[in-house]
Amino acid sequence: MVLYVNACVRQESRTKRLADFFLAGLCEPTEEVRLDTIPFPVADAKFLERRDRLVSEAKFDDPMFDLAKQFSGADEIVIAAPLWDLSFPASLKQYFEQINVPGVTFVYSSDGAPKSLCRAKKLTYITTVGGNDFPESFGFGYIQALAQSFYGIHDVRLIYAAGLDIAGADVESILTKVENAMRTRR
Ligand SMILES: Cc1cc2nc3c(=O)[nH]c(=O)nc-3n(C[C@H](O)[C@H](O)[C@H](O)COP(=O)(O)O)c2cc1C
Repeated sequence: MVLYVNACVRQESRTKRLADFFLAGLCEPTEEVRLDTIPFPVADAKFLERRDRLVSEAKFDDPMFDLAKQFSGADEIVIAAPLWDLSFPASLKQYFEQINVPGVTFVYSSDGAPKSLCRAKKLTYITTVGGNDFPESFGFGYIQALAQSFYGIHDVRLIYAAGLDIAGADVESILTKVENAMRTRR
């Protein structure tokens, strides 16, 4: 199962268009998590206390762990998120706060390093950018570090289209070029 984490927001999202194109090429069963439909709980002290207690009692059947279990059981991960304020929408950070659960997606080994409990070996991050400058380190770089260090996903790929909001940009041709590149990479 391919897990599609959809952090796109706008009805006419160009990021979603690229993600849909990519997923159509995979021809594999996909489960989509639409982050804009999830009422994420605030990760406040009460929330963390409850979660710590459930984790220490290994009560992973609580619904608060559903997203984490879905992520750790997926064969492949696809994340679609537009570039917002040099990174991505806050809903994606909220998602990671929910799935980063010791005992479900990772455990700390005796030397303190996280050890993955996830099945996936590949993650594709798809984004689009308004300007021409795409600062990889804040959005994609963060996801890559998280995937590699916590989830044991070392094959982390990036697909992006930039310059979409520049006056006079030929948006259709920029997106088509990225789609054609995806086609030839298959
Ligand atoms: C809240 C917000 C923040 C944005 N921040 C940036 C930014 O930091 N740099 C940039 O080049 N474009 C930025 N943009 C433009 C988007 O990256 C661009 O329009 C992108 O294609 C939107 O993706 P979508 O069509 O999937 O919604 C921002 C747009 C929004 C709505």
